[in-house]
Amino acid sequence: MRNIVVLISGKGSNLKAILEAQRDHHWDAQITRVFCNRPNAPGIEIAETFGVPVTVLNQQDFINRDAYDQCLLSQIQLEQPDLVVLAGYMRILSHEFVDYYAGKLINIHPSLLPSFPGLNTHQTALTTGVKWHGATVHFVTRELDVGPIVAQGVVPVHNYDNLDTLSDRVQAIEHIIYPKAIEWFLKDQIFLQDGIVSVIPPQSQFFS
Ligand code: GAR
Repeated sequence: MRNIVVLISGKGSNLKAILEAQRDHHWDAQITRVFCNRPNAPGIEIAETFGVPVTVLNQQDFINRDAYDQCLLSQIQLEQPDLVVLAGYMRILSHEFVDYYAGKLINIHPSLLPSFPGLNTHQTALTTGVKWHGATVHFVTRELDVGPIVAQGVVPVHNYDNLDTLSDRVQAIEHIIYPKAIEWFLKDQIFLQDGIVSVIPPQSQFFS
């Protein structure tokens, strides 16, 4: 049985999709704990509904970023995780943290990386007029939104789209690709060489 921890900051819809997949697909893994940096995040209630303990580390209780990250790392180490999953975790992690969990730390980003790293990806998709948008699961490296790509889900962008319709469509595909990517990890189907991920058997593209 492998251990997974999930880090969230907000709504927790990806956390919910992951918990449902773990329950319904009988993963040989348990989500041992959820960590959250915002005391009012709705995702906390989702974890509790599934009976998963939550640790809230409020950034305002720490004197600086280093102190926060050291505490987070030491708390996560107690869980002895095989995989650390960032699911809408909106804080940049220290290099020390990223290095410590290299190869075991994954993130979901709401764009087809390398397009649109950073924030406001749906707005950028609308204003640049791209016809396809989506989400990317990737390993986390020191540089933001740049790590090796595990899976991508592609959605169309329609002329009538607004922020809500587009973000809903992207989130729907996130809820498919993130649990899938975790399942591949648990089944040792992910191979990383020279910064490129291969999933064996090949199955990394999703279309809505
Ligand atoms: C997701 O859309 C995820 O891609 C994004 O935050 C949202 C969290 O939603 N992550 C980032 O922007 C990270 N750079 P959720 O709380 O409902 O899972």
